[in-house]
Amino acid sequence: MNKSVLVVYYSHSGNTAKAAAEIARRTGGALQEIRPVNPYPQEYRAVVEQAKKEIPAGIHPEIQPMELDFGAYDLVIAGSPNWCGTFAPPVATFLASQDWKGKELAVFCTHGGSGLAKMEADAARLCPDAKLSPGCAIRNGDPEQAVPALDDWLKTIGC
Ligand SMILES: Cc1cc2nc3c(=O)[nH]c(=O)nc-3n(C[C@H](O)[C@H](O)[C@H](O)COP(=O)(O)O)c2cc1C
Repeated sequence: MNKSVLVVYYSHSGNTAKAAAEIARRTGGALQEIRPVNPYPQEYRAVVEQAKKEIPAGIHPEIQPMELDFGAYDLVIAGSPNWCGTFAPPVATFLASQDWKGKELAVFCTHGGSGLAKMEADAARLCPDAKLSPGCAIRNGDPEQAVPALDDWLKTIGC
């Protein structure tokens, strides 16, 4: 059986968007961007400052509504930039607000050197009903720098 795949992501500066598009291309999955209602500042120091406040406080910022038939998908591949070792808060909002019963979830991140860090543990906490598959860390969003290699990972998660 071919799985029905949703690739959902947030991207602040484009790396995760690029990686998500490549994953959607390779899996034939649907691609959906997560957009916060209040966008984060573009300036690096300002966004780091905001992330350092929101993440330890467990803030889940409001995200824009999506025209998404979530129930139609078997496997959700959720992507985020690594922000301070975990998901960017809009991804945490998305993960915490879905009904994961009967669904598989695999996460990927793009990062500057820290890999997935706490993301798999945080996915298990945010989505206790999901069947969690192993994740993938893509340095700088470059598909050639994925660990595990992108096609190996996609095979592992059943794509
Ligand atoms: C607020 C903030 C926090 C970050 N924290 C980390 C981190 O802890 N470890 C890491 O490897 N990269 C960190 N980065 C780098 C991003 O994860 C990396 O540049 C990512 O590919 C950006 O994805 P995007 O272009 O989709 O936004 C951080 C970037 C920002 C803006």
